[in-house]
Amino acid sequence: MSKKKETRLRHIVAVSNNKGGAGKTTTVLNLASAIMRRGYRVLVIDTDPQCNLSLSVGWDTQREGTRTEPGEPTIFNAICLGQNIPVYRNDIGLYYTPSSPRMEDADVHLNSADVTDPVRVLKSLFAEPIDDHTGEGLTEWESSFDFIFIDTQPAMSRVTVNVICAADGIIIPVELEPLAVDGYVKTIGKILKIKKVSNPTLQIHGVLLTKKDARLNSAKSLEEMLREEGDVFQTTISRTNDVPSSQDRDFDPQPGVCHDIFSYRHGRSRAAEDFILLATEYLKRWGK
Ligand SMILES: Nc1ncnc2c1ncn2[C@@H]1O[C@H](COP(=O)(O)OP(=O)(O)O)[C@@H](O)[C@H]1O
Ligand SMILES: [Mg+2]
Repeated sequence: MSKKKETRLRHIVAVSNNKGGAGKTTTVLNLASAIMRRGYRVLVIDTDPQCNLSLSVGWDTQREGTRTEPGEPTIFNAICLGQNIPVYRNDIGLYYTPSSPRMEDADVHLNSADVTDPVRVLKSLFAEPIDDHTGEGLTEWESSFDFIFIDTQPAMSRVTVNVICAADGIIIPVELEPLAVDGYVKTIGKILKIKKVSNPTLQIHGVLLTKKDARLNSAKSLEEMLREEGDVFQTTISRTNDVPSSQDRDFDPQPGVCHDIFSYRHGRSRAAEDFILLATEYLKRWGK
């Protein structure tokens, strides 16, 4: 199923936009799933205290335990307690690192005097071994994953800056809606500043236009404007109720069950087609 080890070249990809509702979590979940279904080994990491991605990949937040009775580790343990990044695997074979509501406290920790390089804590963790909860004996990053997609908070917090500093590339999902496009201009400005100061080799992989309603003239003109400005993926993601429905865990609240668009209605959705096209377009970047 997975590609041969010698062809493996790990890419760490941040998915970021300051604005909530832009489609970051949906993009990480479904692009990662589409690429995994093409035979690659893919890890998704959630850094948002809202834990939407964690829940969508099948993480049960109860597994983390409580403050007094610790359970299984999350990204919080890695970023704030100096442990290795924990990796789990769900029913469709997607590897994941869950977030925690405690990530609300991560910025305070990163700003504290005992953190010597507060923007590179996450980056340094990729040099450490993996805390393997998959039972597969994963030990080191280089041979374990082809792609690592990191979902970010809807804010340019210290945690988000850490993600962008740890990344080789970045995807910026933008909802095709006038106010969201305004927010994008601010986001790209901040990303370019972080690139210049802290991560000069960061590649802008592209802007992904999400929740597109092709019937709206406003969507068409916004799309034209954004395409004139910069690097926008040819593929766009259609607006369809199948996306929120697929993420609704009331359908199957069992732990370990993935709520990607391909697991919903056997993948018979316009959005599933869009994410397959996006994966094809994205993989071409590496000649795959
Ligand atoms: N293509 C789409 N069509 C319809 N709803 C969508 C689409 N993409 C995302 N959504 C919905 O919009 C909301 C926000 O999306 P999400 O991916 O969580 O954004 P973010 O992570 O940027 O806050 C979610 O309820 C999600 O189900
Ligand atoms: Mg999100």
